[in-house]
Amino acid sequence: MLDLERQYKPLRQELLEALAGVLDSRQFILGGAVADFETAAAAQLGVAHAIGCSSGTDALWLALAAARIGADARVITTPFSFFASVSSILRAGATPVLADIDPVTFNLSPAAVESVLDTLHGASVRAILPVHLYGQVSFGSGREFGLPIIEDAAQAWGAGWQGKRAGGLGDIAAFSFYPTKNLSAAGDAGMVSTNSAELAERARMLRQHGMRRRYFHDELGWNTRMDGFQGAILKVKLKHIEGWNEARRTAAARYQALFTATGVAEPGTYPERGVVLPKEVPGAYHVWHQYVIRAPRRDALRDFLTARQIGSEVYYPVPLHMQDALRHLGYREGDFPEAERAAREVLALPIFPEIREDEQQAVVAAIAEFCS
Ligand SMILES: Cc1ncc(COP(=O)(O)O)c(C=O)c1O
Repeated sequence: MLDLERQYKPLRQELLEALAGVLDSRQFILGGAVADFETAAAAQLGVAHAIGCSSGTDALWLALAAARIGADARVITTPFSFFASVSSILRAGATPVLADIDPVTFNLSPAAVESVLDTLHGASVRAILPVHLYGQVSFGSGREFGLPIIEDAAQAWGAGWQGKRAGGLGDIAAFSFYPTKNLSAAGDAGMVSTNSAELAERARMLRQHGMRRRYFHDELGWNTRMDGFQGAILKVKLKHIEGWNEARRTAAARYQALFTATGVAEPGTYPERGVVLPKEVPGAYHVWHQYVIRAPRRDALRDFLTARQIGSEVYYPVPLHMQDALRHLGYREGDFPEAERAAREVLALPIFPEIREDEQQAVVAAIAEFCS
């Protein structure tokens, strides 16, 4: 699925020097390396503020808490995402309200959000939390809803929408630098971005136990600080991420051409006998964190690929409203048909900046053989 070795090898020396710099400074938590990364990251995203923290999950919680989303607030989000998109809302003390996805982008459907708002008459809905799943923005800025937008940009470093970057589209955003992400740390790390000085100041305060002054706690924050080592590694990788994202785009275009040439690519939204390829929607700059096809008999196809030593993954096999841990939200199977269908059909294929053409040819040839 992903060969991190190919990214690591050419950077090895530079990364070791960056780590040595942190050891020499002995600033192991936050400190100069994290501050330097935050400055460079904000500049690259075109946002005013970046706040490094300990994971994408914590970044989501920090973003919600900074925006004062707490008890008695409802937050609209998608049932088709990683668990943290919903669990962080609960951890902030608020109630997640789910709306179905668009079957083409797999992202929150604006029409579904509209109908949820109509049903609730807007009551106590305090924010919308769109997820830029697989590296594509399609929800836009969400301004038309007149509610604060909290972006889950965990999979979308460098992704764009109409000339602006994910992380600066809404009011506040969360990124993950989990080691398999486009921009990745060597462990857990995350970041909050915002153009609001007030939200940035609150996020900084909340990531350090609600302290503005040492040992004076203004609010109930938490420890969600970024390690110096992670800041140093991320600063090195930040110089390369735009090139890596371009390489992912080249690889995605190659899959498109290869699948089309074999004749297994189908034009519709759902697969019949062949596979449906992912699409970049107008206005989006997709960074292909994942290349996700829809396939009939998905699990059998996955077994077939595994037998040929071809990696694949299902993001995500169980929609969030059907997770045991979230049963108390009161949803049932059938409530979000698009998310449920996606969970049955999606299959992520190997994609990373250094993937070779012959590797992609082997993936496509195996899928064509399965479908024939
Ligand atoms: C969409 C989404 N949101 C949130 C997260 C949580 O990030 P982390 O694993 O860094 O806590 C992830 C990553 O796993 C993710 O993919």
